[in-house]
Amino acid sequence: KDLMNSNQTPLPIPPLLENKSLMPNVAEFHLNVQMSKKEFIKGKETNTLGYNGDYLGPVIRVRNGEKVSIKVKNNLNEETTVHRHGLEINGENDGGPHNIIKSGETWNPTFTINQPASTLWYHPHVMHNTGEQVYKGLAGLFYIDDEVTDSLNIPKEYGVNDVPLVIQDKRIDSSGKIEYNLGMHDVMMGFKGDTNLVNGAINPYLEVPRGKMRLRLLNGSNARIYEFVFSNNQKFYQIASDGGLLDKPVEMTKLVLSPAERAEIIVDFSEYKKGNVVELTNQGTELMKFVVKEEKQKASNIPDRLAQIERIDPSKSVKTRKFVFQGMGPMVNINGKQMDMNRIDEEVNLNATEIWEISNPSMGMMRGMAHPFHAHGVQFQMLDRDGNPPPANEAGWKDTILVNPGEKVRAIATFNHSGLFMYHCHILEHEDAGMMGQFKVK
Ligand code: C2O
Ligand code: CU
Repeated sequence: KDLMNSNQTPLPIPPLLENKSLMPNVAEFHLNVQMSKKEFIKGKETNTLGYNGDYLGPVIRVRNGEKVSIKVKNNLNEETTVHRHGLEINGENDGGPHNIIKSGETWNPTFTINQPASTLWYHPHVMHNTGEQVYKGLAGLFYIDDEVTDSLNIPKEYGVNDVPLVIQDKRIDSSGKIEYNLGMHDVMMGFKGDTNLVNGAINPYLEVPRGKMRLRLLNGSNARIYEFVFSNNQKFYQIASDGGLLDKPVEMTKLVLSPAERAEIIVDFSEYKKGNVVELTNQGTELMKFVVKEEKQKASNIPDRLAQIERIDPSKSVKTRKFVFQGMGPMVNINGKQMDMNRIDEEVNLNATEIWEISNPSMGMMRGMAHPFHAHGVQFQMLDRDGNPPPANEAGWKDTILVNPGEKVRAIATFNHSGLFMYHCHILEHEDAGMMGQFKVK
């Protein structure tokens, strides 16, 4: 296809957040959580929230081994927290519901990065109010680099051939507003929108050089599960899952991401001609366009091997813990219990390896509902999905695992960070309603 609609918006590329530290191996970042306004539809303004801007946030980029300090100023007139989803960190710095930042106050977590290169993200985690704050715009990406990504000849020029795509859906009313008013059906099934956004824009386009593009996709929606396919069924290679590079690229034509899951993919545009258009779609519904430019880019490749992933030996597991998604609507829960900040549901020994078995019996009115399971402070390796080996693109590090109706997924992890952490369904309306629990590592 060669058509280009003149009134389309270019894909917004979030800025990289400036590191204010003058010392090597130390990074200091400043985040302002603020109220703002934005026009998703030209001429129609809506209230939004953003980090250092009107919607979403800058990309925070750090290296493995680096000491990081983030100064978060809460300029909202309500409480917030800043959780870095996927980060292996102790409980006090996790940004969960206990790390409240009151209106007007500043929070300053400091921590050392101790995990491989990956695409993580940050978002608020306030009891009963995560859904609305994320929906209004509070979300940003958190990149970790390391020697492995340095040594690979994969596309890595930020904003040029290494581009973040935060995909979300919104309900935009006729006056252009994005109100978050939950009906019973929304609490039950999650709040889904009628309009898709990529980096905050509706149907944007990106001009791409002929050659390979690395796209870092985040499903940043509250509840929608995306099935990404390119027009013409263009194939691509997934090179990373939530917690880092896979051991080898996985060729695919369709990628499923549930809320909070990330994937890095490489798409090759070198066979196209100038002006050719390739669409990224959700099951055929257009999300954005890639418009191929004349210029070629520096050659990169799709390496046969990516990272060495040391497999965690299941015989090292000292305990198998079971988590069952249950209930419906305002009664959603895990193991029959709804979130209580004063109750610790599970106690894990520091440095222990455990198998977590998550099941979704999907009964009654919740039949057919899939739930993405996420636990804080740790990265898992999936052992099996309903008794079958994990699909190749889920065989790397995972912090969010979609559990389909009727399924049971087993995943293994070593709990190397102490403190209080959450596990929950990442459909934010389920999380806010109480489909969450707390585990303590000590
Ligand atoms: Cu993405 Cu408990 O969070
Ligand atoms: Cu759920």
